[in-house]
Amino acid sequence: MKESRWKQKDGMEIFLIAEPTSDVRTSAENTRLKAAHRAMWALGDYHRFATATVWELGPVIVDACGISGSQRVLDVATGTGNVAIRAARAGASVVASDLTPEHFDAGRRAARAEGVELEWVEADAEALPFADAEFDVVTSCFGAMFAPNHQTVANELLRVCRPGGTIGLIAFTPEGRGGDFFAMLSPYAPPAPPEALSPLLWGNEEHVRELFGEQVESLEMIRREYVEGAVSPRAYYEFFRDTFGPLVAIRESLADQPERAAALERDFLEFVNRSNRGSSGGSVQIPYEYLLIVGRKRV
Ligand SMILES: C[S@@+](CC[C@H](N)C(=O)[O-])C[C@H]1O[C@@H](n2cnc3c(N)ncnc32)[C@H](O)[C@@H]1O
Repeated sequence: MKESRWKQKDGMEIFLIAEPTSDVRTSAENTRLKAAHRAMWALGDYHRFATATVWELGPVIVDACGISGSQRVLDVATGTGNVAIRAARAGASVVASDLTPEHFDAGRRAARAEGVELEWVEADAEALPFADAEFDVVTSCFGAMFAPNHQTVANELLRVCRPGGTIGLIAFTPEGRGGDFFAMLSPYAPPAPPEALSPLLWGNEEHVRELFGEQVESLEMIRREYVEGAVSPRAYYEFFRDTFGPLVAIRESLADQPERAAALERDFLEFVNRSNRGSSGGSVQIPYEYLLIVGRKRV
């Protein structure tokens, strides 16, 4: 099976089936792709975005993994330290890593405000610059899912985790509002590279089971939801427009296409209206389903 575009399923663009081989991309292509991803995530104001949306989920991973004082923890695709800062608050010694080091200044300020210190390391989830079995716990909240080669990422998470250690992840499910959100944006985004898998597959239990295979002795997965809110649909759109790097990047690419930019805004507001369980015409409350994954690496 090999396809170069994400597939449509039930009106949602969720699946791209491809052979996940890391040698499909040459190293020069990979460098360009990762530089483009980094530039995209550096736009906007990620810390402002995260603290108003996904910030409650850092502690969810810390609790689910039982992170405590004596442990050494790696948070992959940490952003500004959502999981990492909470793991350090629990007493762990933490490395916060991300492809986008532009996030780290805001992360350092947030850590200082919480009275903790972490190590911040620029790192691609597909090529972690850490030794085998270096960490007791490896985490990622809506982060590692965005690297295109899922099997390479899973192998890297497992490699740096010690035998008997824990891997804790959070990803959007394809069936939830996150699936609809990315499907809404994707016609305006640059095409994904041919071998890239949809990030939403990390929210599919079967796919995750295949990725970790026999290398884990247990794999617990549970679907949950969190809610994003705003005073109005327009306020929700404007917040994303100003803070969320991928949307800022798409809008910059449409700078000389005002009609397409207007269509994107309309599609965004339609997404909000069909997802909103808040009062009609008033405040926004969008429930996003996610998959919480906790795996124990085989001893
Ligand atoms: C939605 S944010 C999540 C950040 C953080 N975990 C949180 O909960 O707020 C996605 C993050 O993934 C990072 N990222 C994207 N591709 C990556 C890759 N290949 N390797 C490491 N980080 C990556 C981005 O820089 C961004 O910080």
